[in-house]
Amino acid sequence: MRVIDEPPSVQRQCTSLRREGKTIGLVPTMGAFHEGHLSLMRSARAENDVVVVTIFVNPIQFGRGEDFDSYPRDLQGDLAQAERTGVDLVFTPSAEAIYPKGFQTYVDVIELTEGLCGASRPGHFRGVTTIVTKLFNLIRPHRAYFGQKDYQQSAVVRRLVDDLNLDLDIVLLPTVREADGLAMSSRNVRLTPPQRRAACVLHASLRLAEERVSVGERSAKAILDEIRAMIEAEPLARLDYVALCDPETLKPLDRIEGPTLLALAVRFGGTRLIDNSLIRLP
Ligand code: PAF
Repeated sequence: MRVIDEPPSVQRQCTSLRREGKTIGLVPTMGAFHEGHLSLMRSARAENDVVVVTIFVNPIQFGRGEDFDSYPRDLQGDLAQAERTGVDLVFTPSAEAIYPKGFQTYVDVIELTEGLCGASRPGHFRGVTTIVTKLFNLIRPHRAYFGQKDYQQSAVVRRLVDDLNLDLDIVLLPTVREADGLAMSSRNVRLTPPQRRAACVLHASLRLAEERVSVGERSAKAILDEIRAMIEAEPLARLDYVALCDPETLKPLDRIEGPTLLALAVRFGGTRLIDNSLIRLP
């Protein structure tokens, strides 16, 4: 497995792999791997000749006061896991190499980033779409792999790929969960044991909504009221948002009449967790 940290060098390497006719699968990450990342790498391994993983804690997708400094980092552990998973190349650039002095070009997806995490984290998706565009240009993958836990991110990246006519497929894979249902996230390691127990409320909220829909409830307000009550009853949890929306446009829905995205974000002390479920009518 090769580890490269210079953008021109990764670009040269990937260009020559493409010229040799190799297909490239990209797994963009911020490191601190868990089973969710590994499942993306395994799918990339199964579907491409070459698997490239990027590890970069992207400063411009963190707002002021967010957890950029305390975001979990474990480069050596990540490299060992990537190698065991059959990754061919890991790109680990520095922030200075990605955003050199004078950098001033950003990529913005407008409407899809207005609600949900975009409303709570102004500027976050601009940071994501800018780094993802740079990574797509450096690595020129045939496929890029994302997890459903970050559903809005994947919708925004798909839009970016369509709108800018980028020549790659976005592959979305299911959220990987702990045995008790908590969605795997690099941030989970920062939960205290009581917060970790309380964090089960995210998954419980999704199950509650699915169950209400399965017995015929169609009012978004009724379901959202129940979820808010469930989260408010958990003393360590602070609800950031919960929404039922159209899975394509991400606009809020009043009634559940077709496939619906339930998305939520909840804080436990300084750790903000997200989760979602794509609810289908029975
Ligand atoms: O999902 C993530 O880990 C990040 O947002 C990504 C896609 C690697 C961009 O920094």
